[in-house]
Amino acid sequence: MGIVSQVSIAPTTVNESGRDPILEVRGLRVYFSKESGLIIKKRSMVKAVDDISFDIYPGEFVTIVGETGSGKTTVARCLMGLTKSHDCSIKYKGKEISDMGGKERIEHWRRVQMVFQDPYESLNPMQNVFKIISTPMRLLTKESNPAKLREKVASLLAEVGLDASEVMNRFPHQLSGGQRQRVNIARALAPGPELLIADEPITMLDAEQRLNILFLLKELKQKRNLTVLMITHDLASAQISDRMLIMYLGKLVETGPSRELVSAPHHPYVELIMESAPNLNFDKTILNANPLATDDNPVPEKGCVYQPRCKYATRECSETTPKLEEFSKGRFVACYNPLNTKAA
Ligand SMILES: Nc1ncnc2c1ncn2[C@@H]1O[C@H](COP(=O)(O)OP(=O)(O)OP(=O)(O)O)[C@@H](O)[C@H]1O
Ligand SMILES: [Mg+2]
Repeated sequence: MGIVSQVSIAPTTVNESGRDPILEVRGLRVYFSKESGLIIKKRSMVKAVDDISFDIYPGEFVTIVGETGSGKTTVARCLMGLTKSHDCSIKYKGKEISDMGGKERIEHWRRVQMVFQDPYESLNPMQNVFKIISTPMRLLTKESNPAKLREKVASLLAEVGLDASEVMNRFPHQLSGGQRQRVNIARALAPGPELLIADEPITMLDAEQRLNILFLLKELKQKRNLTVLMITHDLASAQISDRMLIMYLGKLVETGPSRELVSAPHHPYVELIMESAPNLNFDKTILNANPLATDDNPVPEKGCVYQPRCKYATRECSETTPKLEEFSKGRFVACYNPLNTKAA
């Protein structure tokens, strides 16, 4: 699979706090090339992420919300420098991550850590919990004293709500789903990051564990003064965050403070997912009620990506792509016919 990345400058998100952003993303595009057809091969492009810009401020808890395939993981991988995005601009504390050399890149991975999407796949089945957590600690913090490493791993396990004496020597298959996810979080915390990216940290857990993990993230943010970027397809869970970035087919369609966005959404897509689940339990509904664009329902070549499914669409929507623009203080929307205009 090939990859094409380009830059274009799009409107920035809001600086509510007056502080410098910890992360600045401008014009991020990631296009993957796709081959289809058994006999006659056809090549086309998947616009996994298509010209998005946003900032994250120190100490914020932000969520990227979007249905499956909307490009959430691709954004996260770009922020980690794991997916190439040469021509766009991603700055961490003012430093372009694509310009980082070997040592700087390693320091970037110490400061920005990610909890990967699948807690079952992302833990090495051949390593016990001590090895899983102590390895990044040893590599990224240069701590090599075995007794100190054991002490630090035990303290991290306690911090994420696990009993170190019980789980330290266990292998992943000997842990429950919730325990695995806590080990994943402890591993990400091991190098002492400033920004924690958690990709769908609760998707594979039962209802009770989901809440526990959400509250753990919130607690860690407060205790460690962390900045958290959580990725989820579940708008209900995203309400735990300070601010939401709503993605639809590679585009940011709405961003804003979580409470305001949910109480009076401006984008018709957000209204749709809320109408599908009036009690804010969007989890299943968002996946079932909003089928992704497929070859039968392709991404439009021009105009708004959401326009084929939008009940408010006008001619303008099928002709030009709306830009993400500030609609009211701190609220950004990419729509020619925004909703709840009086609430703003
Ligand atoms: N390495 C790759 N090669 C080709 N296509 C890819 C690659 N990675 C992602 N894609 C495509 O890019 C699009 C966005 O994928 P991504 O994994 O970022 O979505 P997502 O929002 O994280 O979805 P999910 O909620 O299912 O995890 C999808 O159409 C996916 O098939
Ligand atoms: Mg994903």
